[in-house]
Amino acid sequence: MADYIEAPANATAAQRLMVWIDNRFPATKLWNEHVGEYYAPKNFNFWYIFGSLSLVVLVMQIITGIFLTMHYKPDASLAFASVEYIMRDVPWGWLIRYMHSTGASAFFIVVYLHMFRGLLYGSYRKPRELVWIFGCGIFLCLMAEAFMGYLLPWGQMSYWGAQVIINLFAAVPFIGPDLALLIRGDYVVGDATLNRFFSFHVIAVPLVLLGLVVAHIIALHEVGSNNPDGVEIKAKKDALGRPLDGIPFHPYYTVHDIFGVSVFLIIFSAIIFFAPELGGYFLEYNNFIPADPLKTPAHIAPVWYFTPYYSMLRATTDLMVYVLSAVVAVAAVLALLKGRFSNVGKIVLLVGAVVLIALLNTFDAKFWGVVVMGGAVVILFFLPWLDHSPVKSIRYRPSWHKYVYGVFVFFFLVLGYLGAQPPSATGNYVSQVGTLLYFAFFLLMPWWSRMGEFKPVPERVTYAAH
Ligand code: HEM
Repeated sequence: MADYIEAPANATAAQRLMVWIDNRFPATKLWNEHVGEYYAPKNFNFWYIFGSLSLVVLVMQIITGIFLTMHYKPDASLAFASVEYIMRDVPWGWLIRYMHSTGASAFFIVVYLHMFRGLLYGSYRKPRELVWIFGCGIFLCLMAEAFMGYLLPWGQMSYWGAQVIINLFAAVPFIGPDLALLIRGDYVVGDATLNRFFSFHVIAVPLVLLGLVVAHIIALHEVGSNNPDGVEIKAKKDALGRPLDGIPFHPYYTVHDIFGVSVFLIIFSAIIFFAPELGGYFLEYNNFIPADPLKTPAHIAPVWYFTPYYSMLRATTDLMVYVLSAVVAVAAVLALLKGRFSNVGKIVLLVGAVVLIALLNTFDAKFWGVVVMGGAVVILFFLPWLDHSPVKSIRYRPSWHKYVYGVFVFFFLVLGYLGAQPPSATGNYVSQVGTLLYFAFFLLMPWWSRMGEFKPVPERVTYAAH
């Protein structure tokens, strides 16, 4: 137990109250540790706003979600009408609903940018591996949360989107059909599915998400923030043990964040008030038609934030499986010729490659599509161990690394675009190339991240006062 503190004789009533609280709950201690005396690098730039924005959107989603739940009916025969009731009859209901639906897209925009910042500055590298891993867990939860939330309005896209994605689980060998049945709670998407998705969306997943966000920030504050130079500011401290290149989070970054949040809210409001559907990207037009199990829409596509992964799923055709088999064979031969393996190691490698190729060609391409789609997210967890670059930040990497990142981002966007389009032969070839490049970026990272001429990393962060 911490020592009991006495308030000074001349303390104000507010100060006395604070002392009373601090003797029972570490309010001041927590504030100082995480805000007032949290020393953040002084060279943060624009990219560092997206963490705070993610927090803002998280809070907004929870609050608007609570109000939506007051009027929404998780019943297949009432759900669609209850959303229309919120939009037309509940006072300010339209605003709350649009804030929540636009908030879902905004969440993914800020989180994608937040993750990209991590990639640019090597923020996932030692000692921040757990910060990154908690982040990847958050990303998975966010995907689950968005997917289940999308079923709730019970429109055509909600219904058929869920039908398509849940059916994918049926492609898992042996347990697939039972697994899909377990998720749906019925043989087709129906009332049981809506009820369980509702309960996951409003309580189960948000609880896990909140827990992960708390863990994410505790882990970050334990090791300290990275910065655009990738220099560890804790390596150089003053006599009082404060990093020489650090500044207290409050007031310096609270002011910075208030400005960033204001700009964000201006853009966010513009979308809500002038284009809440954003051309069908934030709210699909088909979802304004009530779910009809007897009428499949001509074109089913997920919301934009899932489309890169959806493209990868569609790209995994039989042809792609042959290409993957060839890639495994070539990789195994190269590893045998170039790698330094013991004889036992070589045999294990060879047997592993043969088994993998056999499995690739045994199970349906649809199943491998699911594996590829899931693998595209799971691979992110391993990033801290895939990057072998001697420096963290892109600033001090060989210039051509920027093109590697550029190609990666370009193809990720192309995959996203194609995933929203109806399938086409050309589109599918491009998606296949994009999928291969996506995985090559990560799987070949142990090699390419070490290659080229690295620039000298400064001892202290670079900073120009403005
Ligand atoms: C609900 C979603 C999330 C919230 C609320 C959140 C919140 C934050 C906050 C407040 C920070 C400190 C400020 C900053 O550095 O920007 C941060 C840092 C960080 N986050 Fe997140 N985050 C989320 C999702 C993610 C995801 C999905 C990833 C990666 C997969 C991630 C990876 C990181 C990393 C690596 C840092 C340290 C950055 C550095 O020090 O340079 N976060 N996060």
